[in-house]
Amino acid sequence: MDQQAVCILESPEHELQCRSMSDRYSLPLVSNLSEISAKYALRYHDGVLKLWDLQEPKFRPISFDANQTGRIGKNSLLGKAMGKKTRTIVDATAGLGQDALLLARMGFSVIAIERVPVISALLEDGIARATSTEQHLRIQHSFGDARDLLLKLSVRPDAIYLDPMYPEGRKKSVKVSRPLKVIRELAGDDPDSVDLLQTALRSTARRIVVKRPVYAAPLCLRVLAGSLKGKMVRYDIYVRTGWTRTLSIFPSEYSVERRQYLLQSFQLFQTDSVPDQGLC
Ligand SMILES: C[S@@+](CC[C@H](N)C(=O)[O-])C[C@H]1O[C@@H](n2cnc3c(N)ncnc32)[C@H](O)[C@@H]1O
Repeated sequence: MDQQAVCILESPEHELQCRSMSDRYSLPLVSNLSEISAKYALRYHDGVLKLWDLQEPKFRPISFDANQTGRIGKNSLLGKAMGKKTRTIVDATAGLGQDALLLARMGFSVIAIERVPVISALLEDGIARATSTEQHLRIQHSFGDARDLLLKLSVRPDAIYLDPMYPEGRKKSVKVSRPLKVIRELAGDDPDSVDLLQTALRSTARRIVVKRPVYAAPLCLRVLAGSLKGKMVRYDIYVRTGWTRTLSIFPSEYSVERRQYLLQSFQLFQTDSVPDQGLC
């Protein structure tokens, strides 16, 4: 059987965890690696779920490492981008959870969504370990595509944070860390990130923050409210209050959907361009 990744069941100590992970993420459970040809294997080691590269065993296995994530305050660029009134954030592209952890350590309550099964399994394990050692952290994990989950949230987040995969940079020589390389291999290039932003803009969150490299254009210039720019990274901010205020040019008895539709047509008319999809 050819698989991208499998879970290895080695010790009876982790049997329950392995079985439930394999069910939850539909990953084959094996005890003998020769049964299967896969590039990656998940296995528990010293109580930590790790991802091994079976084809390149010289590389250290990857896991969610809370100790490698620093601490930054609400005065950092990321903290400021989230806005003063924000309490609850959905990190809709959680990856290995480094930004989710930074945000939780700043005091935000975070819901971390990831759609790639192997990455989500590592994230889930890491969040459980981080929140058990730092008990003030409030991070909830969710597996699935944020384009579906954002419209079904049981809480109303103040902000949605998006950090889709960066487009290729101008300098091909820039060194990329091993975990990022593996994430790109497993997750791909996130070609649907504009779609994800449009879903976030339709959700109930007041603010959407998108992390971009400084060399890349904003995902949606049309409704961009502002940006905070650092040396390497830019946080593009989309604010729903501005959007709602703009909607007020139409009679209030019109539904929001109708006003949004009219606004889009109005903007289309103004800019004389035809967007591929919806708002952007
Ligand atoms: C660049 S990584 C995020 C890194 C993360 N911010 C961190 O600090 O570790 C992008 C991640 O977003 C995930 N992703 C992209 N689009 C998604 C979607 N629609 N739903 C859920 N996850 C998504 C990808 O699978 C990938 O793991």
